[in-house]
Amino acid sequence: MEDELRKAAKILADGGLVALPTETVYGLGADACNETAVARIFVVKGRPQFNPLIVHAVDLEGAEKIGVFGPVERQLAAAFWPGPLTIVVPLSAERGEEKAEISPLVTAGLSAIAIRVPAHPVMGLLLRLSGLYIAAPSANISGRVSPTSAAHVIADIGDKVDLVIDGGETSEGIESTIVKVVSGVDGGNELLLLRPGTITAAQLSEVSGLKVRGLKFRNDEGVSLPEALLSKASLPEAPGALLKHYAPKADVRLNADEINSGEGVLGFGPEAETGPLSNLGPVFNLSETGDLREAAHRLYAGLHYMDEQGVGMIAVRPIPMEGIGLAINDRLRRAAQN
Ligand code: TXA
Ligand code: MG
Repeated sequence: MEDELRKAAKILADGGLVALPTETVYGLGADACNETAVARIFVVKGRPQFNPLIVHAVDLEGAEKIGVFGPVERQLAAAFWPGPLTIVVPLSAERGEEKAEISPLVTAGLSAIAIRVPAHPVMGLLLRLSGLYIAAPSANISGRVSPTSAAHVIADIGDKVDLVIDGGETSEGIESTIVKVVSGVDGGNELLLLRPGTITAAQLSEVSGLKVRGLKFRNDEGVSLPEALLSKASLPEAPGALLKHYAPKADVRLNADEINSGEGVLGFGPEAETGPLSNLGPVFNLSETGDLREAAHRLYAGLHYMDEQGVGMIAVRPIPMEGIGLAINDRLRRAAQN
């Protein structure tokens, strides 16, 4: 593996693209300081240039050379890095030998930068060996289901990258939680949850002692979404949040109580199938024991499986709206969007 990673480090240093494993999903990586390489990421993904990229740093010290961290951000980093938490901070304005010049394409011209220190050992070693900041969105065509295995990456964009590193199935299964420290109405700090993930709002609140904003409940469909998804006014806060995303080729139907003939079933809990069925389509249970962490881990594999099976409609059984369930429902809700 180390030889392959040296090769990957060389490709990145020369401005190439490497698909790499992280603990959340596979990323499409480039040297974050190389404008041409970063531009290629947008082309390969078909990603709009207003949607900025996450930068992966080797550790907090490295992160502090490109972003401005206050005490709250440091506290979050100390608690959750390396791990599936992305922190949005002001872009460091200082320039000089010690400072890296992140390509403005990475931040889509914003004055804030999204940074995380990933926990996957392969990615950690690659960051160390290369000495680079690696910009990496999920390694899928924009709008499609994110990859949680090297096979997913190869099927989607394998022919468009210089190397795909196989680091096995990702453990988390969904993208990192994204958080930003903002000032609240009373002048104190609050956390704004820009994207839910496997690090939950409750965990962020417990570590920081701060209120976490960004989750609003929509009772019509019983689905909760980050506020950012519901209000266009907050678009600059989370440029990627309004897009249809994570979409399989099939249509997706949420909170399905009854399954119709021929539909694919994404189950949760012991009873994936329901009602009298004459013509049952493919069934993929996210977690037979009703474990939300396991369901997140298997979510995209389930959506990829349904596409392989060629179903026209995926009926998703109800998934509880608590803890990691918020992140799962967020992804499914966007997969279902027309
Ligand atoms: O788990 C992850 O975060 C994965 C792995 C590869 O690290 N990456 C990932 O990247 O999910 P991507 O590009 O699929 O999603 C990045 C999200 C987008 O919604 C983008 O709008 C947001 O992060 N983002 C990036 N930079 C930002 C910034 N400066 N301010 C606010 N949001 C930002
Ligand atoms: Mg993505």
